[in-house]
Amino acid sequence: MSELERILVPPGKKGHVSVAHLSRYWYVACLSSELGSRPIARTVLGTPMALFRIDGRAAALLDRCAHRNLPLSQGRVTSDGFLTCRYHGWQYDGSGLCRLVPGLLDRTSDRERRVLSFPVREQQGLVWVYASADAEPDREPFALPLTSEPGYATVLRRVEAHATLHAVLENALDVPHTGYLHRGLFRGGGKHSITAVVRRSADRVETEYLGEPRPSGVAARLLSPRGGPVQHWDRFILPSVAQVEYRLGDDAHFLVTSACTPVTDFRTRLFAVVSFRTRIPARLVKPVLEPIALRIFGQDAAILRAQSRNIRRFGGEQFMSTELDLMGPHIWRLLRHAERGEVPPSQKIDEQRVTFMA
Ligand code: FES
Repeated sequence: MSELERILVPPGKKGHVSVAHLSRYWYVACLSSELGSRPIARTVLGTPMALFRIDGRAAALLDRCAHRNLPLSQGRVTSDGFLTCRYHGWQYDGSGLCRLVPGLLDRTSDRERRVLSFPVREQQGLVWVYASADAEPDREPFALPLTSEPGYATVLRRVEAHATLHAVLENALDVPHTGYLHRGLFRGGGKHSITAVVRRSADRVETEYLGEPRPSGVAARLLSPRGGPVQHWDRFILPSVAQVEYRLGDDAHFLVTSACTPVTDFRTRLFAVVSFRTRIPARLVKPVLEPIALRIFGQDAAILRAQSRNIRRFGGEQFMSTELDLMGPHIWRLLRHAERGEVPPSQKIDEQRVTFMA
């Protein structure tokens, strides 16, 4: 049995990562632009939340009124800044404390009337929630690189996937399927020998590809018409960030950061932030690249849905991998550590080299 196979799910053992146990992390709940004057409902790690703004600041409460359990996301925000339940009008502040019960004179037990609240941060056009209620986060949300870098254009897209967090992350970082499922769009057939260097550390795994030619699909030819050297990295960062970075030729730089939010064990919402710089002006690149990117996302979404259906039909995952499956087993191992609340074993960087055709 190879070292790679040893860290896979042991033969005969089925299962998937239970996202409910990944609660001590930040996840994107919605786009800033989605959060206006009305509350909205979002589910993160299976927990229904009501998101709203008070004086412009985003807040998140458990989507269940303490009184008779109406969804608070069906309420409204008053002009003086309270989220009001639509049934009997209980009013909550951003910390989940009920500040008014209409008609009630005795307010001595006000502090007992409350709903759980979740820490919120709004940055770079995204609203992040910390998935443990009433907790004190020990870190800040992931900061998206390059979004305000001069010379770069950024496109933000949301994709719904009927698949596990692990399946979505692996798909975002899986090279072999790109030459097959997306043949012609980004990559062609496997004719070149490439060496992959996989670096694992406590909270992430990164693969650097050496000797990779410019991908032969339409998208890569558009980004780098003159060809030249290619630098390529794929990264996974706990608990749910997948990042693909390309430097093509002397001037094209392309970074896709996918912040994945597990809605439930088998549904994942992906916020893809694409930042790029090319010799061709972004206003000319966007209309050509966007349909290609959407086609790729569509193909992936269909595959993930079919994979997810079959995994559920068979009662859980039972994967068999080869050396080409560079990222998936490492993502699995890190997610399993996080699921058990374990501190990853070491900070040291572990390196592995694999050569393959792509
Ligand atoms: Fe919300 Fe009664 S159910 S105020």
